[in-house]
Amino acid sequence: MLAELLTTQPKKPSKLVGEAFAPSNIALIKYWGKRDLILNLPITNSLSISLGEKGARTRISLNSANQNTVLLNGHLIAHDSAFYKRLSDFLDSIKPDPQQFYNVETTMNLPVAAGLASSACGFAALVKAFADLYNWDIPEPILSILCRMGSGSACRSLWQGFVEWHAGERADGLDSFAAPLPYTMPDLAIGLCILSSAEKPISSREAMRRTVETSTLYESWPKQVMFDLAEIKQALENQDFHNMGCIAERNALAMHATMLATAPAVCYFLPETVAIMHKIWKLRAEGLSVFFTEDAGPNIKILARQTDIQFINQQIESIDWV
Ligand code: PMV
Repeated sequence: MLAELLTTQPKKPSKLVGEAFAPSNIALIKYWGKRDLILNLPITNSLSISLGEKGARTRISLNSANQNTVLLNGHLIAHDSAFYKRLSDFLDSIKPDPQQFYNVETTMNLPVAAGLASSACGFAALVKAFADLYNWDIPEPILSILCRMGSGSACRSLWQGFVEWHAGERADGLDSFAAPLPYTMPDLAIGLCILSSAEKPISSREAMRRTVETSTLYESWPKQVMFDLAEIKQALENQDFHNMGCIAERNALAMHATMLATAPAVCYFLPETVAIMHKIWKLRAEGLSVFFTEDAGPNIKILARQTDIQFINQQIESIDWV
């Protein structure tokens, strides 16, 4: 059905350059584990917050040569790299004519592949820029599905604010897409603690697969998500910052616990990661409503109230607030 829907769309670009921005997103209730590795279908729902101005801007145009050219932050991506192949395969799956190739130019204002959802905003910006190039007339859920096929969490990067990705049940994934949620938390500030911008030792794709296959704790993960999801929505509904932070933090730690119980273990923590966790727990013990979350990388994302930013900056250095 997806292929059919795309065949009804224009075959030729409607302009020379398609362009779009997509924000990065951070999950407060994590996506960890797939029920379909090819279609990126998750085992559970997940819930994220988008990062405003932090994200990816992509420009795409037709390339007259018989190949794609990909520039990431001004650097040409080698044609024999895994990243180039992943992107080209994705373009092949959505392009209207096998003879068309593209120049793709992406700039990101956050570290690439360091657990800061660079693939999420990257694929979402690519799909949006593609839709702009061809002037696609496609409903948002379908755009979200296309983003998901590029990188699971990209399906949540089409919107700002809080977003939920519905896992769906269908084998073809047509009911697995994200949608914006009606909550706001004007108080919320997100601080990025970049402890390492190095490429991660194991991709989230591989780490997820290993967790689902071997983690003795994975059995409890879907239950944890169901419980946390219901509770965090209630906290968002009540504008309850403290509970929202507690739930997001425990959900991230539960996700990392499933990874630690894999064989061999997946550990994204660096000593600096754990040191910041302790600083945050100490600040909390002293009465401050401050929390963290962490994805498939060593970097910590702080969840705090806007009014506490200055104080937290005095306690923890080099936080990039978004
Ligand atoms: O979409 P992926 O394959 O980059 O996986 C993202 C996984 C986490 O960032 C750890 C959790 C999430 O929900 O974003």
